[in-house]
Amino acid sequence: MYRRPAPLADRHILDGFDSGRPSLDAFLVDMARFNHQQGYARTTVIADGDLRVVAYHALCAGVISRDAAPRGVKAHGAPADIPVALLARLAVDRRHQGKGLGAALLQNVLLSVIAASERVAFRAVMVHALDDAAIGFYSRYGFRPARGLERTLLLPVQDIVASFSGVDPAG
Ligand SMILES: CC(C)(COP(=O)(O)OP(=O)(O)OC[C@H]1O[C@@H](n2cnc3c(N)ncnc32)[C@H](O)[C@@H]1OP(=O)(O)O)[C@@H](O)C(=O)NCCC(=O)NCCS
Repeated sequence: MYRRPAPLADRHILDGFDSGRPSLDAFLVDMARFNHQQGYARTTVIADGDLRVVAYHALCAGVISRDAAPRGVKAHGAPADIPVALLARLAVDRRHQGKGLGAALLQNVLLSVIAASERVAFRAVMVHALDDAAIGFYSRYGFRPARGLERTLLLPVQDIVASFSGVDPAG
């Protein structure tokens, strides 16, 4: 049994998280609480029935230069620095991969960004993919590469809104 995505809290058990990517595991175990409490990055977790965390993402504000932004993120008259929501980390414990948790977490990210962008402008969600497998995962959901920034991918907020409302942003 998995619990709904929820903000990281004291009751959550982090030790032993193993995504197969040590840098992502270390962030959760050693840094996520501090960053969450201090407002550097907000972490959302999916836990099992025993409150052991099996998947998480961390979000913060970011920026991309107009020159690096792909079409759909920048429009005519865009400022030199375009505000984005940065998906700083996303990982699923190896023992729980392939069960839809990555997709569920990403949906939680996109819904969070839509809600936040009503009050604070974000033009896109940006992620720095760790490797080709991560690029494959994000590409499935419409993320497209930044110009000249290796493994940096973006998904325009207008595309997210359209995907949840069933409207084609191009049409
Ligand atoms: C990448 C990761 C987040 C996927 O999570 P997951 O829970 O295994 O994925 P899901 O079960 O939700 O899969 C959702 C869909 O994505 C697909 N998918 C999963 N990993 C994929 C990959 N590497 N490339 C392409 N598609 C992928 C699945 O086949 C599934 O497709 P379907 O909806 O047609 O069935 C997870 O494997 C992970 O944490 N990996 C290690 C850490 C990592 O690389 N994080 C990204 C860092 S930037």
